Amino acid sequence: MSPSLNSARIEALASERLPQRWNGAIDRALLARATAQVLLSIDRNLQYFGERFPAPSTSGQVYPAIGNVEWTNGFWSGMLWLAYELSGADHYRAAAERQVRSFHARQANRQETNHHDLGFLYSLSCVAAHRLTGDPLAAEAAMGAARLLLERYLPKAGIIQAWGELSDPAQQGRMIIDCNLNLPLLYWASEHSGDPSFRAAAERHIEAAARHIVRPDGSTFHTFFFDPASGRPLQGKTHQGFADDSCWARGQAWGIAGFPLAYRYNSDSRLLDLAQVLANYYLNRLPQDGICYWDLMFTSGSEERDSSAAAIAACGLLELAPRLAPGNPLRDSYQAAAVGIVQELAQHYLNQAAAPGSGLLQHAVYHKPHGVGVDECCIWGDYFFLEALVRLQRDWQPYW
Ligand code: GLY
Repeated sequence: MSPSLNSARIEALASERLPQRWNGAIDRALLARATAQVLLSIDRNLQYFGERFPAPSTSGQVYPAIGNVEWTNGFWSGMLWLAYELSGADHYRAAAERQVRSFHARQANRQETNHHDLGFLYSLSCVAAHRLTGDPLAAEAAMGAARLLLERYLPKAGIIQAWGELSDPAQQGRMIIDCNLNLPLLYWASEHSGDPSFRAAAERHIEAAARHIVRPDGSTFHTFFFDPASGRPLQGKTHQGFADDSCWARGQAWGIAGFPLAYRYNSDSRLLDLAQVLANYYLNRLPQDGICYWDLMFTSGSEERDSSAAAIAACGLLELAPRLAPGNPLRDSYQAAAVGIVQELAQHYLNQAAAPGSGLLQHAVYHKPHGVGVDECCIWGDYFFLEALVRLQRDWQPYW
């Protein structure tokens, strides 16, 4: 952990008081209606996209169709697997299995694989397929992707480099908080193959994230640079947030979700403490309806919300809460916050439009500084909203 984030400080931050905004009551009828709406939208979009995929974010609330080339394609596959689990309907499985073949070719041909988002891509498409159906081709594709991800490991720094060529001076030695969600692929690969090197890299990376990405006040840097030759930590920098020293809301949400997912594999309880620290920082900076602004430096006013960060954080809280000891005073608060956030999204953030290709969860932000996908739907927001609905309605084994 960061030297100034010692155990006394972690304990203090982890037990911060939270807003008493949510009572935790689950409105089952609301969740069922939202789930039915999501399935209807998936059916409509499956017809519309065919063998293609939704783009990362909508334009005018409608996703352009793209090939299997983006870091986000797995979210659509993940939605199909969730829809299959919810309904048992074979057409979702058949479509997701066609996508597994596309993902197999993508890693074999190294098409747009030169980044760390292989975990997002392959956990939700191929690990999901293997977990649900035992498909050996899916496992082979996921193992291939894990090997590509491991190529990005910088041993001196103990991190997976996020973006670009390893030799690119602009990207060299950069880790980003989002990578927490790419690590489950590495843990899975070690479990699947018996080769411990994937897990070892994931362990070093999560340790570096805990030490350097998490700041002493419980907020997070979006990205952090190391000198790849010596491994020396350099400085934090934002990419999608408001400023280097602000806290990008989705980054914080990736942390809230990612640390408990790593705990699933390594049982290191420090990761749960850290997730609590991040969750408390996040929950104490929400506006009245509980849906964050795109950067947590904003707590009121007319800046855009990021509903996708809210959906990710809700899934993280639902992963975290049951892992805390029953006597933990905040366990029920996290569960209640997750329920409240998901129900707010279901009531006030769902797109009612029926146009083919329509997004689901409105009022998300992809990249505000670049003006991309601002106040639009983002495909990961749609995915995590559905994951949250599933988590709240059944006993679910994550694809992560
Ligand atoms: N992982 C990229 C993003 O959250 O926009």
